[in-house]
Amino acid sequence: MAFTVNLTPLTLRSPEITTGNISSPKSGISFNKKRQILAFAASNSTEEPPTIKPEIELEFLGPTAGGDGRYPVDRAAAVSGDKLLRTIMEDNKLELYGPYGKLMNCGGGGSCGTCIVEVLEGKELLNERTNTELKYLKKKPESWRLACQTIVGNKENSGKVVVQRLPQRKK
Ligand code: FES
Repeated sequence: MAFTVNLTPLTLRSPEITTGNISSPKSGISFNKKRQILAFAASNSTEEPPTIKPEIELEFLGPTAGGDGRYPVDRAAAVSGDKLLRTIMEDNKLELYGPYGKLMNCGGGGSCGTCIVEVLEGKELLNERTNTELKYLKKKPESWRLACQTIVGNKENSGKVVVQRLPQRKK
């Protein structure tokens, strides 16, 4: 008994290369996505792994306690030694000034003395008081700082800083 076998020729094709953001129906991955993946693989093969910069964790207590006696807390994080406390508060939309300071502050120039905060924890993670602070905070508690003069971290340290906003209005 004789039988026949039909062999269908098999063609191997190299992958199609297209330009622009055209989706490949077979893979479901867009060309741009593929390019990103390739770029990632290429960069990983030749470069050092990214270094993780030390970070300072911040807590900001509001000036007025709620009905339960607790002060409202806002949280933020910043790369160590990268920003002034005033900038971090601005970036996180945290109120820094009392009514007078809102209208009359010097915009961080160190000439109004209205950007007062109290550092409750983590003083050692900040720079020393500047001459501007020594002038404006002469008769104020040691823990008070001017936010526009206070650098958060020193690029190498990390930890937690707790800040009381508007200490002069704390109730
Ligand atoms: S904003 Fe004027 S002294 Fe800080």
